[in-house]
Amino acid sequence: MKIAVGSDHAGFELKNYVVEWLRENGHDAVDMGPFSEESVDYPDYARKVALSVVAGTVQQGVLLCGTGIGVSISANKVKGIRAALACSPEFATLARQHNNANIICFSARFTDRETIARSLENWFAADFEGGRHERRVNKIEPCC
Ligand code: RB5
Repeated sequence: MKIAVGSDHAGFELKNYVVEWLRENGHDAVDMGPFSEESVDYPDYARKVALSVVAGTVQQGVLLCGTGIGVSISANKVKGIRAALACSPEFATLARQHNNANIICFSARFTDRETIARSLENWFAADFEGGRHERRVNKIEPCC
């Protein structure tokens, strides 16, 4: 699968780990930066990844920042994006099964490599369940 990956400076090191993990696991990882630990603004990278998902140039995205909250909020401002913050591998499974999330977000400060690897495994193994979840997902619309 073609996956866009981005972060801010706080997520830089784990972002590189995610890129490596994806490539080792047979995915086509597109590293959207940043490319150093210099301080940057997370909305810029979240938007880049989110726009590539809605444009269809990649199928899904992975975003990281200190808490994972900033990138989640930012990515979810792009119409068509359902970005989910995963705090455990179980969150990753449910984000796909129930929310049909197309971007998974991680906290670089509160999540370790092992949790991220297990979460990515679950993320790729899970499918959207549809049915009642589809009805609910279809109701997620900007309202004002
Ligand atoms: C950067 O210091 C930090 O605010 C950012 O990585 C993130 O946690 C924001 O939500």
